[in-house]
Amino acid sequence: MRLTRIAGTGHYLPENVVTNQDLEKLMDTTDEWIQARTGIKERRFVEPGTGSTDLGLLAARAALEEAGWEPEDIQFIVFATLSPDMYFPGNGVLLQKELGLGEVGALDVRNQCTGFIYGLSAADAYIRMGMYDRILLVGAEVHSAGMQMNTEGRDTAVLFGDGAGAVCLEVTDNSDSSHIIWHHLHSDGRFAEELCMYVPSAKRRPWLTKEMIDEGLIYPHMNGREVFRHAVVKFHAVIMEALEAQGLSVESLKLVIPHQANERITEGVRKRLGLSNETVYSNIARYGNTTAASIPIALSEVVKDGTIERGDFVCLVAFGSGFTWGSSLFYY
Ligand code: ACO
Repeated sequence: MRLTRIAGTGHYLPENVVTNQDLEKLMDTTDEWIQARTGIKERRFVEPGTGSTDLGLLAARAALEEAGWEPEDIQFIVFATLSPDMYFPGNGVLLQKELGLGEVGALDVRNQCTGFIYGLSAADAYIRMGMYDRILLVGAEVHSAGMQMNTEGRDTAVLFGDGAGAVCLEVTDNSDSSHIIWHHLHSDGRFAEELCMYVPSAKRRPWLTKEMIDEGLIYPHMNGREVFRHAVVKFHAVIMEALEAQGLSVESLKLVIPHQANERITEGVRKRLGLSNETVYSNIARYGNTTAASIPIALSEVVKDGTIERGDFVCLVAFGSGFTWGSSLFYY
């Protein structure tokens, strides 16, 4: 039987720490408001000139080292981001070049906060079907470039941060030890405009104008309350769907790693599941919401600090723009 195991994890956060107090100088907001509504204390921002491929490269190198792989071992790349270096081509080929690989394939995933889980499911399927034995999966974001850093944009500007995480995935034939179990993926495009960025858009002529920039259409548009309301319900539902499909209980989970959207969302999900603080991972206070990067950053952290050990039962879960949501279960 062909299954997939996580051979290595890695992450990279830019050194530049931006605190809530730093944001108070740029917009009408307060540390108290941000902490009370989101749980965020600080986030990391890159210096201009650094892109999400650069962050992804550093995370990938760390994952390769943990896996004991050389770059040449990579047979395929999957790259999830909503903040690519270029409108096209995607970051996958840029990372392929930076890693100095041969002509390996590179797939770009555009599923926002659920990007890492969609990417993981695709990589897992390629490995199970025998197409590849070793795949590099990266989630990386540079949000600091695309935020409206003033009072007008404060509802989203305070939420997001930059960072990257990566995993090396390899084939295994041993279902008694580390392996990915299954994934559950969902979307509901009726809610696409509740969290989106309107331009550049190929529906418009031209697809980007100064007027559109002046109108603020180049910034994320978010109906925070609507996102919050759906997120709490869908996070819980897709965890339960995954566990019930396997006949497994919530109590058997060693750790849930949710996409880090908002501490209040994570807390709501934790309470609905009846789990302890230790069983639901949170690092949003330090990094904010890093979208496709948040799950692989968290996963890499818990591997390195020993929170999870080989064989532990883990659930990854995400919800975000689209709306899209999903979960993955695995034995680490
Ligand atoms: N600082 C101070 N005040 C603010 C800020 C800010 N940064 N942002 C908004 N406010 C004000 C609003 O203007 C509003 O003022 P008003 O009452 O005078 O109109 C007041 O605070 C309350 O605003 P709400 O939007 O009702 O506040 P809410 O409690 O809903 O919290 C928040 C807003 C934090 C955005 C919340 O809705 C949320 O977290 N939603 C989920 C968002 C999310 O997780 N998005 C990402 C998930 S998907 C992804 O990761 C891509």
